[in-house]
Amino acid sequence: MPNSSSPIGVFDSGIGGLSVVKALTERLPNENYIYLGDTARVPYGTKTKSTITRFSIQDTRFLLDRGVKMVVVACNSASSASVDALRSEFDIPIIGVIEPGAQAAVKATNSGVIGVIGTEATVNSQCYHREILKLKPGANVIAKPCPLFVPLVEEGWLNDSITRQVAEKYLTELKDAGVDVLILGCTHYPLLAPLLADVMGKGTTIVDSASSVSAAVESLLAEKGLSNTSTSPGRREFHVTDLPAKVSQIGRMFLGIDDLEIELAEVG
Ligand code: DGL
Repeated sequence: MPNSSSPIGVFDSGIGGLSVVKALTERLPNENYIYLGDTARVPYGTKTKSTITRFSIQDTRFLLDRGVKMVVVACNSASSASVDALRSEFDIPIIGVIEPGAQAAVKATNSGVIGVIGTEATVNSQCYHREILKLKPGANVIAKPCPLFVPLVEEGWLNDSITRQVAEKYLTELKDAGVDVLILGCTHYPLLAPLLADVMGKGTTIVDSASSVSAAVESLLAEKGLSNTSTSPGRREFHVTDLPAKVSQIGRMFLGIDDLEIELAEVG
């Protein structure tokens, strides 16, 4: 039976979810973490709800087999497609990134005009619309898929003129609509936060789902009596379903550590 010293499981379609591990470790350094990146089947953001849900169930099973006490769905596309299915399938606290991101956005907005950017799957699911409107019925939510941001981040072009041009093109519609909060609804986008903030201009607050979910994880652990009381830094284990050479390089970019040890996992 998992207990408070058991690890927190985190899964993502690939390596981008390390932005969530980074935010979690900064907030909860004494917790242990097991990460699964489904690099063999990435991207999820272009796939259908039923496929993403099937993959998410398999990813969650992999983490449960390793004794995790909670599962964090780091991937926005998986959170939007499958959190409800995971909660009905598994008897363990499961937390996705959509609800915490929507809550943070509602708290931050003055105008009630909220922008959301993410993959096609996340935007088409309208999950952020639904969550935001539950909390703030009069809100105006404008969502825009930005599929080119994922490869640009993986290329390491975080502050490149090409990335800026792409951002200007994607975000014009949101700027013209007068959004005062922009939700970064994808694991990769926190790495573009400075550039996106600059393109949006001073009046826009950036809400990053990685930071929002780590605050929610802290509260949920406390509520369930599952917070790790250890005073020493926790352990982190990283698993991926395919291990191309680029994985460690991208992992370094997301986590900022050089000695990232990654194990190959079999999921499915
Ligand atoms: N992790 C995905 C997300 O946050 C981005 C990459 C993908 O499409 O799988 O939506």
